[in-house]
Amino acid sequence: MPDSLEHGPVTDTLNRLFREAEEADRNLMAQFTDGESSELQIEKAVAEHIAAETRDLLGFYHGYADNFLNVTQEYGRFLYQCARMRGAKRIVEFGTSMGISTIYLAAALRDNGGGHLTGTELEPAKAARARANLQAAGLAGLVDIREGDARDTLADMDGAVDLVLLDGAFSLYLPVLQLIEPHLTSGAAVLAENAFDHGNAYLTYVRDPANGYRSQALAINEGRGNEFSVRTH
Ligand SMILES: C[S@@+](CC[C@H](N)C(=O)[O-])C[C@H]1O[C@@H](n2cnc3c(N)ncnc32)[C@H](O)[C@@H]1O
Repeated sequence: MPDSLEHGPVTDTLNRLFREAEEADRNLMAQFTDGESSELQIEKAVAEHIAAETRDLLGFYHGYADNFLNVTQEYGRFLYQCARMRGAKRIVEFGTSMGISTIYLAAALRDNGGGHLTGTELEPAKAARARANLQAAGLAGLVDIREGDARDTLADMDGAVDLVLLDGAFSLYLPVLQLIEPHLTSGAAVLAENAFDHGNAYLTYVRDPANGYRSQALAINEGRGNEFSVRTH
């Protein structure tokens, strides 16, 4: 039986979305890839990003309403593999954007025999586009995208969670994880994108085994602050 990434509506939709993302984010990405970035420059850019989103979360991300800010194909395939390996039945995603990472994860749920993904997105226009993209990929029945600030929309979570993707506002990974934490199954995978290593409270927390995680940086997409943690409690 072929997996959902091999061909069909999932592959067709992802191919279209990666083309659209390339076009929409080209100028934005050029700012990050122009020239060599030193450790110090990255630290400064991350600090500025965090200061700006802390000042005005809605306004800051509304400024990126037309940008995908998506995971790469390589990282998306890794998400799919993690969810398959874990036999995930329930997934929570912080930061859905147009739904690229969501499609990889929901495809894994379907290939695991079924399940449910709770997505979260601050920007209503993006949540609407993500829903349409999941429909096009034939995965809409597995996903519910909660619109608004994840700190509110995930406040009434219930049920067990096998995998979490943190890919929203950089400064909110720890509070969002702590909302989901009581629901994590032992052995649950927690993947964080953009968890940059500069006095990061999230990294300090998940890298301390006393908090019930084993955690390390991933070599995939190095430089993008990819952290991989497993719930040990
Ligand atoms: C890096 S993008 C997510 C990319 C997506 N995971 C993908 O691969 O296509 C981050 C998204 O998180 C959303 N976001 C930021 N803060 C949020 C919050 N507090 N609650 C929900 N969504 C948030 C932003 O609007 C933005 O669309």
